[in-house]
Amino acid sequence: ETMESVTGLADREKEVAERLQVDRVIIVPGNSDRYSWVKKELGRACIQQMKDMLQPEDIVAVAGGTTLADVAQMMTPDEKFSSVTFVPARGGLGEKVEIQSNTISSTMAVKAKGNYRLLHVPDQLSREARESLVLEPGIKELLRLIRRAGIVVHGVGAASTMAVRRGAEDDILRVLQEKEAAAEAFGYYFDRNGQIVHKEKTIGLQLDELQENQKVITVAGGASKAEAISAYMNYRPSDVLITDEGAAQAVLGD
Ligand code: BG6
Repeated sequence: ETMESVTGLADREKEVAERLQVDRVIIVPGNSDRYSWVKKELGRACIQQMKDMLQPEDIVAVAGGTTLADVAQMMTPDEKFSSVTFVPARGGLGEKVEIQSNTISSTMAVKAKGNYRLLHVPDQLSREARESLVLEPGIKELLRLIRRAGIVVHGVGAASTMAVRRGAEDDILRVLQEKEAAAEAFGYYFDRNGQIVHKEKTIGLQLDELQENQKVITVAGGASKAEAISAYMNYRPSDVLITDEGAAQAVLGD
Protein backbone atom coordinates (compact mmCIF):
# COMPACT_ATOMS: atom_id res chain seq x y z
CA GLU A 1 0.00 0.00 0.00
CA THR A 2 1.36 3.42 -0.85
CA MET A 3 1.71 6.14 1.73
CA GLU A 4 -0.58 8.40 -0.20
CA SER A 5 -3.58 6.21 0.43
CA VAL A 6 -2.92 6.26 4.15
CA THR A 7 -2.51 9.92 5.02
CA GLY A 8 -1.93 11.92 1.83
CA LEU A 9 1.36 13.42 0.77
CA ALA A 10 0.49 16.90 2.01
CA ASP A 11 0.20 15.64 5.58
CA ARG A 12 3.43 13.75 5.20
CA GLU A 13 5.16 16.88 3.94
CA LYS A 14 4.15 18.70 7.10
CA GLU A 15 5.29 15.83 9.31
CA VAL A 16 8.69 15.64 7.65
CA ALA A 17 9.06 19.43 7.77
CA GLU A 18 8.40 19.38 11.47
CA ARG A 19 10.69 16.46 12.12
CA LEU A 20 13.61 17.99 10.23
CA GLN A 21 12.87 21.64 11.05
CA VAL A 22 12.78 22.47 7.34
CA ASP A 23 10.48 25.30 6.22
CA ARG A 24 9.03 23.50 3.25
CA VAL A 25 9.07 19.86 2.21
CA ILE A 26 7.90 18.56 -1.14
CA ILE A 27 7.40 14.81 -1.48
CA VAL A 28 7.08 13.17 -4.87
CA PRO A 29 5.55 9.70 -5.20
CA GLY A 30 7.82 6.64 -5.33
CA ASN A 31 11.25 5.62 -4.11
CA SER A 32 14.20 6.66 -6.25
CA ASP A 33 16.27 3.72 -4.98
CA ARG A 34 13.93 1.49 -6.97
CA TYR A 35 12.86 3.49 -10.01
CA SER A 36 14.96 6.00 -11.87
CA TRP A 37 11.94 7.99 -13.06
CA VAL A 38 11.40 9.12 -9.48
CA LYS A 39 14.60 11.21 -9.70
CA LYS A 40 13.15 12.92 -12.75
CA GLU A 41 10.10 13.80 -10.67
CA LEU A 42 12.39 15.20 -7.98
CA GLY A 43 13.93 17.23 -10.78
CA ARG A 44 10.61 18.51 -12.01
CA ALA A 45 9.60 19.59 -8.50
CA CYS A 46 12.96 21.26 -8.00
CA ILE A 47 12.71 23.31 -11.18
CA GLN A 48 9.23 24.49 -10.17
CA GLN A 49 10.55 25.48 -6.76
CA MET A 50 13.48 27.36 -8.28
CA LYS A 51 11.12 29.29 -10.55
CA ASP A 52 8.95 30.24 -7.59
CA MET A 53 11.90 31.49 -5.56
CA LEU A 54 13.93 33.26 -8.24
CA GLN A 55 14.58 36.98 -8.21
CA PRO A 56 15.75 38.79 -11.35
CA GLU A 57 19.58 38.84 -11.68
CA ASP A 58 19.86 35.98 -9.21
CA ILE A 59 22.91 33.78 -9.05
CA VAL A 60 22.10 30.10 -8.64
CA ALA A 61 24.88 27.89 -7.28
CA VAL A 62 24.47 24.25 -8.27
CA ALA A 63 26.19 21.19 -6.82
CA GLY A 64 26.89 17.88 -8.56
CA GLY A 65 25.59 14.33 -8.39
CA THR A 66 23.15 12.12 -10.27
CA THR A 67 20.10 13.74 -8.69
CA LEU A 68 21.19 17.22 -9.75
CA ALA A 69 21.96 15.84 -13.20
CA ASP A 70 18.31 14.79 -13.43
CA VAL A 71 17.22 18.21 -12.20
CA ALA A 72 19.16 19.70 -15.11
CA GLN A 73 17.52 17.28 -17.56
CA MET A 74 14.09 18.51 -16.48
CA MET A 75 14.91 22.19 -17.03
CA THR A 76 12.85 24.04 -19.64
CA PRO A 77 13.31 27.54 -21.07
CA ASP A 78 11.68 30.30 -19.07
CA GLU A 79 11.81 34.05 -19.39
CA LYS A 80 12.51 34.17 -15.65
CA PHE A 81 15.96 32.69 -16.19
CA SER A 82 17.13 35.21 -18.79
CA SER A 83 18.88 37.42 -16.21
CA VAL A 84 19.94 34.51 -14.01
CA THR A 85 23.49 33.16 -13.85
CA PHE A 86 24.22 29.56 -12.93
CA VAL A 87 27.53 28.77 -11.24
CA PRO A 88 28.98 25.54 -9.88
CA ALA A 89 28.96 25.49 -6.09
CA ARG A 90 32.45 24.03 -5.78
CA GLY A 91 35.46 22.94 -7.74
CA GLY A 92 35.63 19.36 -9.03
CA LEU A 93 35.27 16.70 -6.37
CA GLY A 94 36.73 13.82 -8.32
CA GLU A 95 33.57 12.66 -10.03
CA LYS A 96 32.69 11.72 -13.57
CA VAL A 97 32.26 14.76 -15.77
CA GLU A 98 28.54 14.11 -16.39
CA ILE A 99 27.75 14.60 -12.72
CA GLN A 100 30.19 17.41 -11.92
CA SER A 101 28.68 20.72 -10.93
CA ASN A 102 30.30 22.58 -13.85
CA THR A 103 28.51 20.31 -16.30
CA ILE A 104 25.23 20.42 -14.43
CA SER A 105 25.08 24.18 -13.96
CA SER A 106 25.97 24.86 -17.60
CA THR A 107 23.41 22.29 -18.81
CA MET A 108 20.75 23.93 -16.66
CA ALA A 109 21.65 27.36 -17.97
CA VAL A 110 21.56 26.31 -21.62
CA LYS A 111 18.20 24.57 -21.21
CA ALA A 112 16.74 27.45 -19.23
CA LYS A 113 18.16 29.98 -21.69
CA GLY A 114 19.97 31.64 -18.82
CA ASN A 115 23.66 32.39 -18.30
CA TYR A 116 26.48 30.40 -16.78
CA ARG A 117 30.07 30.67 -15.62
CA LEU A 118 32.46 27.77 -15.18
CA LEU A 119 34.95 27.21 -12.40
CA HIS A 120 38.07 25.60 -13.80
CA VAL A 121 39.99 24.08 -10.94
CA PRO A 122 41.26 20.56 -10.42
CA ASP A 123 40.03 18.75 -7.35
CA GLN A 124 43.27 17.59 -5.78
CA LEU A 125 45.15 20.72 -4.81
CA SER A 126 47.99 21.32 -2.42
CA ARG A 127 47.42 24.09 0.08
CA GLU A 128 49.97 26.28 -1.71
CA ALA A 129 48.29 25.81 -5.07
CA ARG A 130 44.87 26.52 -3.62
CA GLU A 131 46.07 29.65 -1.89
CA SER A 132 47.52 31.07 -5.07
CA LEU A 133 44.67 29.93 -7.33
CA VAL A 134 42.06 31.80 -5.33
CA LEU A 135 44.00 34.98 -6.03
CA GLU A 136 43.74 34.54 -9.83
CA PRO A 137 41.41 37.32 -11.03
CA GLY A 138 39.09 35.02 -13.04
CA ILE A 139 38.76 32.52 -10.22
CA LYS A 140 38.45 35.23 -7.60
CA GLU A 141 35.57 36.78 -9.54
CA LEU A 142 33.79 33.44 -9.80
CA LEU A 143 34.24 32.73 -6.10
CA ARG A 144 32.70 36.13 -5.42
CA LEU A 145 29.67 35.18 -7.55
CA ILE A 146 29.33 31.84 -5.75
CA ARG A 147 29.40 33.58 -2.38
CA ARG A 148 26.63 35.95 -3.54
CA ALA A 149 24.32 33.16 -4.76
CA GLY A 150 20.68 33.83 -3.86
CA ILE A 151 19.78 30.19 -4.33
CA VAL A 152 21.90 27.12 -3.68
CA VAL A 153 20.69 23.77 -5.04
CA HIS A 154 22.35 20.56 -3.97
CA GLY A 155 22.05 16.87 -3.27
CA VAL A 156 22.92 14.81 -0.21
CA GLY A 157 24.52 11.39 -0.20
CA ALA A 158 25.16 8.64 2.30
CA ALA A 159 28.71 9.20 3.59
CA SER A 160 30.02 5.73 2.75
CA THR A 161 28.57 5.77 -0.77
CA MET A 162 30.05 9.16 -1.53
CA ALA A 163 33.47 8.37 -0.07
CA VAL A 164 33.77 5.30 -2.28
CA ARG A 165 32.40 7.09 -5.34
CA ARG A 166 35.02 9.79 -4.94
CA GLY A 167 37.84 7.35 -4.35
CA ALA A 168 38.67 8.52 -0.82
CA GLU A 169 42.05 7.34 0.49
CA ASP A 170 42.24 4.72 3.24
CA ASP A 171 43.11 7.21 5.96
CA ILE A 172 40.05 9.29 5.13
CA LEU A 173 37.83 6.20 5.04
CA ARG A 174 39.14 5.35 8.49
CA VAL A 175 38.31 8.81 9.85
CA LEU A 176 34.82 8.62 8.39
CA GLN A 177 34.26 5.25 9.96
CA GLU A 178 35.69 6.21 13.36
CA LYS A 179 33.63 9.37 13.50
CA GLU A 180 30.53 7.59 12.22
CA ALA A 181 29.99 9.83 9.23
CA ALA A 182 26.41 9.53 8.01
CA ALA A 183 25.96 12.20 5.36
CA GLU A 184 27.88 14.02 2.68
CA ALA A 185 27.04 17.28 0.94
CA PHE A 186 29.36 19.64 -1.00
CA GLY A 187 32.37 17.58 0.02
CA TYR A 188 31.55 17.96 3.73
CA TYR A 189 30.89 14.86 5.80
CA PHE A 190 28.56 14.91 8.83
CA ASP A 191 27.77 12.55 11.65
CA ARG A 192 24.16 11.89 12.59
CA ASN A 193 24.08 14.92 14.89
CA GLY A 194 25.09 17.16 12.02
CA GLN A 195 28.65 17.71 13.22
CA ILE A 196 31.21 18.13 10.44
CA VAL A 197 33.65 15.21 10.69
CA HIS A 198 35.62 15.78 7.50
CA LYS A 199 35.86 18.34 4.73
CA GLU A 200 37.31 17.79 1.27
CA LYS A 201 39.65 20.52 0.19
CA THR A 202 38.22 22.14 -2.90
CA ILE A 203 37.42 25.75 -3.52
CA GLY A 204 33.97 27.26 -3.77
CA LEU A 205 30.98 27.52 -1.52
CA GLN A 206 31.81 27.18 2.16
CA LEU A 207 28.80 25.91 4.05
CA ASP A 208 29.66 27.75 7.24
CA GLU A 209 29.63 31.07 5.38
CA LEU A 210 26.05 30.74 4.11
CA GLN A 211 23.90 33.69 5.15
CA GLU A 212 20.28 33.65 6.28
CA ASN A 213 19.09 35.32 3.09
CA GLN A 214 20.64 32.67 0.85
CA LYS A 215 17.99 30.08 0.06
CA VAL A 216 19.05 26.46 0.08
CA ILE A 217 17.13 23.81 -1.85
CA THR A 218 18.11 20.24 -1.00
CA VAL A 219 17.11 17.48 -3.40
CA ALA A 220 17.53 13.93 -2.17
CA GLY A 221 15.34 10.86 -2.39
CA GLY A 222 15.40 7.12 -1.81
CA ALA A 223 15.00 5.26 1.48
CA SER A 224 18.76 4.64 1.47
CA LYS A 225 19.34 8.37 1.97
CA ALA A 226 16.99 8.86 4.93
CA GLU A 227 19.73 8.78 7.56
CA ALA A 228 21.91 11.09 5.49
CA ILE A 229 19.09 13.59 4.97
CA SER A 230 18.34 13.71 8.70
CA ALA A 231 22.02 14.06 9.60
CA TYR A 232 22.53 16.90 7.14
CA MET A 233 19.42 18.76 8.32
CA ASN A 234 20.80 18.57 11.85
CA TYR A 235 23.70 20.65 10.57
CA ARG A 236 21.60 23.32 8.90
CA PRO A 237 17.96 22.83 7.99
CA SER A 238 17.44 23.85 4.37
CA ASP A 239 14.74 26.22 3.22
CA VAL A 240 13.25 23.56 0.98
CA LEU A 241 13.69 19.79 0.93
CA ILE A 242 12.56 17.97 -2.17
CA THR A 243 12.35 14.27 -1.50
CA ASP A 244 10.34 11.15 -2.31
CA GLU A 245 7.99 8.83 -0.47
CA GLY A 246 10.70 6.24 0.05
CA ALA A 247 12.96 8.66 1.94
CA ALA A 248 10.07 10.38 3.74
CA GLN A 249 8.75 7.10 5.08
CA ALA A 250 12.19 6.12 6.35
CA VAL A 251 12.84 9.57 7.89
CA LEU A 252 9.62 9.24 9.84
CA GLY A 253 10.61 5.73 10.83
CA ASP A 254 7.65 3.88 9.42
C1 BG6 B 1 25.84 16.49 -4.91
C2 BG6 B 1 26.46 16.97 -3.69
O1 BG6 B 1 24.97 17.51 -5.31
O2 BG6 B 1 25.06 15.33 -4.77
C3 BG6 B 1 27.01 15.84 -2.96
O3 BG6 B 1 27.48 17.91 -3.91
C4 BG6 B 1 25.96 14.80 -2.73
O4 BG6 B 1 27.49 16.36 -1.82
C5 BG6 B 1 25.62 14.27 -4.05
O5 BG6 B 1 26.35 13.84 -1.85
C6 BG6 B 1 24.62 13.15 -4.07
O6 BG6 B 1 24.76 12.48 -5.28
P1 BG6 B 1 23.63 11.64 -5.95
O7 BG6 B 1 24.27 11.03 -7.13
O8 BG6 B 1 23.18 10.67 -4.95
O9 BG6 B 1 22.57 12.62 -6.31
